Amino acid sequence: MHLVEATDEQKVQRDVLTYSEWGKLLTLEEYLSREQRLRTHPWARSDMRTWLLCDTDGSVLASCETFRTHSFLRTPTGPLVPGDSFAIASVFTEERLRGRGYATQLMDLLAARLERQPRAHAALLFSDVGPRIYARSGYQELPAWNWHLSPIPGDPNERVNLLPPEDDIGRALERLRYPDSPFFFWPTPAQLDWHLERGRIYVEKLGCTLPSSLGATTGASTILWGLASRNAELLVLMLDARSPDEAHALLGAARREAHRSGLSRVVLWEEPTHAPLLSSLEGATRVARDGSLPMVRPLRPDLPLAPLLPVPRGLWV
Ligand SMILES: CC(C)(COP(=O)(O)OP(=O)(O)OC[C@H]1O[C@@H](n2cnc3c(N)ncnc32)[C@H](O)[C@@H]1OP(=O)(O)O)[C@@H](O)C(=O)NCCC(=O)NCCS
Repeated sequence: MHLVEATDEQKVQRDVLTYSEWGKLLTLEEYLSREQRLRTHPWARSDMRTWLLCDTDGSVLASCETFRTHSFLRTPTGPLVPGDSFAIASVFTEERLRGRGYATQLMDLLAARLERQPRAHAALLFSDVGPRIYARSGYQELPAWNWHLSPIPGDPNERVNLLPPEDDIGRALERLRYPDSPFFFWPTPAQLDWHLERGRIYVEKLGCTLPSSLGATTGASTILWGLASRNAELLVLMLDARSPDEAHALLGAARREAHRSGLSRVVLWEEPTHAPLLSSLEGATRVARDGSLPMVRPLRPDLPLAPLLPVPRGLWV
């Protein structure tokens, strides 16, 4: 068995097979067109690869995708060392081939390949099938809690400055502080826009409207959000709140934006620094995340993996 990069034709062949798993709400034709559209997005064009585990006769046994993302190592004296990390998505084995270790073999060969990349830091994935299968390939699970907030009527502009949709995501992202942890992932502006592209695809199916803002700021605090999945929810992609008061103001704006856009709730992925900011937030519930369990595998032996490594929703693939 060996690992190869898929050709464009092979990618479409895999799309036809994966439709039954990931095509909910869409016809096959719409799913194929969604995949094509997402692959032509600037982030995917520059940083996405599709990988195939092939048998000796060339037949495909399993597949997945990688998206390169930025990450940083904090040296003991302070300076940050930038590198590349790889978010892994769409791990798939056809039903007739399951249970023979092919997905595990794919993950092992892929990690060995990624380890040879010159600036490699870590691989990151979001398991929908629990931790066990990926733990076998060296992935460690991280906490996965969500905060759910109900929409509320009112002007989203109250107490915050809303970021208009045409605003530069890069400029907004630059306002956010890097996490304190010795190692962390950090999305690019194109990466965040790729999430919004998903929302642009799904909005017609959902009976809601696209939020008319990218997020909000107040004081030095910033939140970035969007419709980014096949659920009519406002997903918080990134949140840097400098105080409980500013966190409450930003999340209040998110709740009003969700109401204005006809979305059913606001969803925030909890990061280690959020707990003290959110504990007194009314109308918010903390729930164990259903699926999308973050798991990380170092791609170099000295990578310091703290259990408190933040994984915002903006890193999901
Ligand atoms: C998950 C998947 C890729 C595994 O492929 P595979 O080639 O059968 O994987 P392996 O043979 O290497 O490992 C199989 C293990 O995965 C586990 N697994 C598969 N589906 C699972 C699920 N839905 N929940 C929990 N575990 C699951 C099996 O129980 C088995 O575990 P065990 O060996 O400890 O009993 C395949 O079932 C699949 O394509 N599923 C649909 C798409 C999907 O959910 N992909 C994962 C997204 S994170």
